[in-house]
Amino acid sequence: MTEQAPHLVVAFGGVSPEHEVSVLTAMQVMSALSDSKYSILPLYISKSGQWLTGDILKELEQYGDLDALIQQASPCYFNRDQLGRVVLEHPKKGLFSKPVQQAIYAIVVAFHGGAGENGSFQGICEQLDLPYTGSGVLASSLGMDKVKAKQLCEANRIPVTSSLNFYEEDWDRHNATILEEVEQLGYPVIVKPSSLGSSIGVKKVDTQSALIKAVETAFRYDAQILIEESIAPLIEINCAVLGTPESCISSVCERPIGSGEALSFADKYQRGGSADKGMVSADRVIPADISDELSQEIRVLSEQIFRVFQAAGVARIDYLVQKDTEKVYFNEINTIPGSFSYYLWEHSKLSFTDLLDQLIETAITVHQQKNGRILHYDTNLLSDKAATGLKGLKGSK
Ligand SMILES: Nc1ncnc2c1ncn2[C@@H]1O[C@H](COP(=O)(O)OP(=O)(O)O)[C@@H](O)[C@H]1O
Ligand SMILES: [Mg+2]
Repeated sequence: MTEQAPHLVVAFGGVSPEHEVSVLTAMQVMSALSDSKYSILPLYISKSGQWLTGDILKELEQYGDLDALIQQASPCYFNRDQLGRVVLEHPKKGLFSKPVQQAIYAIVVAFHGGAGENGSFQGICEQLDLPYTGSGVLASSLGMDKVKAKQLCEANRIPVTSSLNFYEEDWDRHNATILEEVEQLGYPVIVKPSSLGSSIGVKKVDTQSALIKAVETAFRYDAQILIEESIAPLIEINCAVLGTPESCISSVCERPIGSGEALSFADKYQRGGSADKGMVSADRVIPADISDELSQEIRVLSEQIFRVFQAAGVARIDYLVQKDTEKVYFNEINTIPGSFSYYLWEHSKLSFTDLLDQLIETAITVHQQKNGRILHYDTNLLSDKAATGLKGLKGSK
């Protein structure tokens, strides 16, 4: 690797229940990019929110002892160099040494959950005008909010399960009404925190007392709860989409297999296989063992949903399918799917490295398109105000 190779930041970790899963995705990304034209700069956000960099963060074995790893890595931050370029900066050892500054070509966003996936980190990149992979602020935040995602789908006639949602204050005040509405949905129902992931806090309940317990547990994770009718017998199907709203393609479908009725955190990440395989070690059938018609229906729907959310890069859309009727319901959109769903693209003859190249290219194109638009509107409002003073400022917006 020469010194001139463009610096690609791989950002991962973060304050999120899916921290470990993100570390696995990032290790896979860095390994797939190891022979690429880029020089990889890891940007690891610890569970407590510290920003760290250093080559040691490229080695999965080091994550066994997080405290030791944090001690050895270098605290870092975004800054600008003398040329005005955005750099990843970290102090150099030695009292009077100048900090190390590395200009950033683009960022591969490999967080799962939390501020890394919900648009907050994407907002930092926008603010600094840095190209970054995946969806922008709006799609990222909509994708992390199950209630808003369902509402957007409903508004676009995309089928979703019947449901109700409420905040903790509603629950405290109108608990009886909510319980009555749940009776109307009909037990069993599924209780979910609106904006977590990896099945944390998701529970299927058969009785009112179990429901109350599940709602109270879910409120420990989230301020808003979603209660859905339960689809049974259930087939779960996922499909990934790659590209931009203007031009996107869907992958083959996959059918994840759980050990219980609902896929749990353990089903997704802790069953079988070695840890560095991450998502791909979970049990799944690829391509999904469903009819060609159903698979085609889901692929078309997935591209439509990708456009409706204005997603970008790679997203995975998860469905609940009623086995007897084959009715398809949108369940959720993951704007940063585990392992970037690379194993689905391999069926389209796209290797993980090619997939990453496309994601980076898309990031650069989206960034250039954004900067090609008029970003400010020249007026002489301020010179007028400077002349007339603050009087009469009210109503200027
Ligand atoms: N309406 C539903 N009916 C039946 N099973 C469901 C329903 N919603 C979710 N599940 C089950 O619960 C799992 C986790 O729910 P999901 O909404 O995907 O949350 P997460 O974001 O945590 O993955 C799903 O993979 C599925 O197995
Ligand atoms: Mg899910």
